[in-house]
Amino acid sequence: MAILVTGGTGFIGSHTVVQLLNDGREVVIVDNLCNSKLCVLDRIKSITGKDVKFYKADLLDFEAIDKIFKENDIDSVIHFAGLKAVGESVQKPMLYYHNNITGTLNLTKAMADNGCKKIVFSSSATVYGNPKSVPIKEDFPLSTTNPYGETKLMIERILSDIVKSDPEWSVSILRYFNPIGAHESGLIGEDPKGIPNNLLPYIVKVASGKYDHLSVFGNDYNTHDGTGVRDYIHVVDLANAHLKALDRAAIVTGVEHFNIGTGNGYSVLDIVKAYEKATGLTVKYEIVARRPGDIDACYADPTKAYEVLGWKAQYDINKMCQDSANWQKKNPDGYGE
Ligand code: NAD
Ligand code: WQD
Repeated sequence: MAILVTGGTGFIGSHTVVQLLNDGREVVIVDNLCNSKLCVLDRIKSITGKDVKFYKADLLDFEAIDKIFKENDIDSVIHFAGLKAVGESVQKPMLYYHNNITGTLNLTKAMADNGCKKIVFSSSATVYGNPKSVPIKEDFPLSTTNPYGETKLMIERILSDIVKSDPEWSVSILRYFNPIGAHESGLIGEDPKGIPNNLLPYIVKVASGKYDHLSVFGNDYNTHDGTGVRDYIHVVDLANAHLKALDRAAIVTGVEHFNIGTGNGYSVLDIVKAYEKATGLTVKYEIVARRPGDIDACYADPTKAYEVLGWKAQYDINKMCQDSANWQKKNPDGYGE
């Protein structure tokens, strides 16, 4: 019995594959490599000592996905594959809707056709929009502000409707907060294309001398120091939540939603200081205007994940910063060409 991991060579997918292999589970990866590189498979092997079966295929190609199910004994799916850049989704909404939604429809049809009814889906805290209060609980109202977020919310609803139509399905919707860090080996990590949009990847490049300074987007938010507050979570902690969700899917049917965060909120300036403390490096910054669409504060109440899945984040912000810095030091150009 294998687990199909879509998007398994990507940032979160690769870390999850490592945890799955180390736990002795059988894995098949499908990825079209539109935002990841083939050499990730060698890195996964270096860490785990195991080869993993890989298909270079696009979820938009139904025949190719169906063939993967026919050729393997797939019992469950962890579905990471998707496009994730918020700004790009505003520029190219059709690309995002087609890739993320059609890709998921093809995947779930291939699953249904081949009798596979267990799926863990990568959702995002973005589905809470601008929450009325923090910490955020799973039953807070849902809304989105951009096409990327809209695809996450639509996919959540599609999966819920599938469960309504066939109660044998087991759907686990994990709403990630802000994943950062890297595997402590420094062999796998986040490798954004071009100039990073997200805070930690940008800080890492400033501290390593690639960029002169960080632009802090606004210091007039309603937070303890005026800069935006988020719930940063170590990617290995996040990966481990998927193993717990799979275990649960093996014994229950229906749809469940879980916040996957630490429950701690850190401001942009807290993160700058934490990175400096963890690495001994300097992060020059300047305060600039707010980034459109940003919100004051977003952090999880992760109680449900603990009570139902038995999952809790283990790593603190210091470890997240150290592991991000270690990945950067060992791979100044990411995975390279
Ligand atoms: P990533 O881009 O590193 O990984 C996604 C992988 O999916 C890539 O390897 C890409 O090549 C692949 N992919 C995309 N479209 C595909 C398609 N049509 N067919 C086959 N493969 C395809 O992203 P990540 O950070 O690892 O995120 C994984 C998932 O988690 C995504 O669904 C993302 O939306 C979600 N998520 C990410 C974050 C974050 O901040 N990183 C936060 C919340 C949710
Ligand atoms: C964090 C904080 C910025 C960069 C995004 C997506 C979300 C999810 C995770 C996928 C904010 C500030 C940032 C910079 C800054 N992805 N910042 N200077 O916006 O919370 O979430 O990634 O699902 O959907 O929207 O993360 O890392 O971009 O920003 O001051 O150069 O850092 O304003 O307060 P965000 P982020």
